[in-house]
Amino acid sequence: MDRRRISALAHADHPIAAPLSDTSVSRLLDRALPGGSERILDLGCGTAEWLLRAAAERPGVRAYGVDLDADTIVRAREGIAAKGLGDRIRLEAGDAGAYTAEDPFDLVLCVGSTHAFGGLLPTLEAVRKHLAPGGTVLIGDGFWEREPGRDTLDAGFDADEYADLATTVDRIVAAGWTPTYGHVSTIEEWDEYEWSWTGSLSRWALDHPGDPDSGAALTAAAEHRAAWLRGYRRTLGFATLVLRRTPDHLR
Ligand SMILES: C[S@@+](CC[C@H](N)C(=O)[O-])C[C@H]1O[C@@H](n2cnc3c(N)ncnc32)[C@H](O)[C@@H]1O
Repeated sequence: MDRRRISALAHADHPIAAPLSDTSVSRLLDRALPGGSERILDLGCGTAEWLLRAAAERPGVRAYGVDLDADTIVRAREGIAAKGLGDRIRLEAGDAGAYTAEDPFDLVLCVGSTHAFGGLLPTLEAVRKHLAPGGTVLIGDGFWEREPGRDTLDAGFDADEYADLATTVDRIVAAGWTPTYGHVSTIEEWDEYEWSWTGSLSRWALDHPGDPDSGAALTAAAEHRAAWLRGYRRTLGFATLVLRRTPDHLR
């Protein structure tokens, strides 16, 4: 079964593709967009759910997004048009690493998409060229809540893929950034995300038993659920941080 079809069905009930509640998303956007009229860019935007929420509540926001997956961009554009936000949210299909814009951005988002740049620190390095002076980054990435054991590694992770939260933040600060806000996903947010992911995919399979993909969808949901419950639940954490550059003379 096509991975993109799995992802589209799995995110039906939880369109933000990360373990964050609607309240957390809203609060993070409030902290990252204090002026309400910013120019913002989302690298690896998926269905552009962050941009939709940012623009819907702030008429002055102009938003841009890029995602590698052209089908996802088509679906995202449909959602944007349905909400009447097509004049303020522009999307393009392509590699986030190759994205160029004439003008810089007040806010650059990259949530759950740091693999597009090879990890957290390479992402932060890459976003600098897009950032206006004094601009803000909103970045969401994994960290180890506890040292990963065999079950977690068998679920498809490398031990050195992440560090613990304190080390993660130390590395960010050492790279010249100051956290001005942050949110660590709770176990409730994780469970809501994973039950939604596996549940909506399973529900679709049960509702469409005649579809040629229904068996594969049920299998994909079961494998994902096992990797989560036996592998990374309570071991993989997720932190979403609001960052600004630390001026050289304050480092
Ligand atoms: C976990 S989703 C996160 C989507 C969105 N940021 C959100 O929080 O809802 C990761 C996204 O990164 C995109 N992606 C992966 N590699 C990419 C690349 N090199 N350039 C642009 N997007 C990429 C995927 O297509 C996917 O939509």
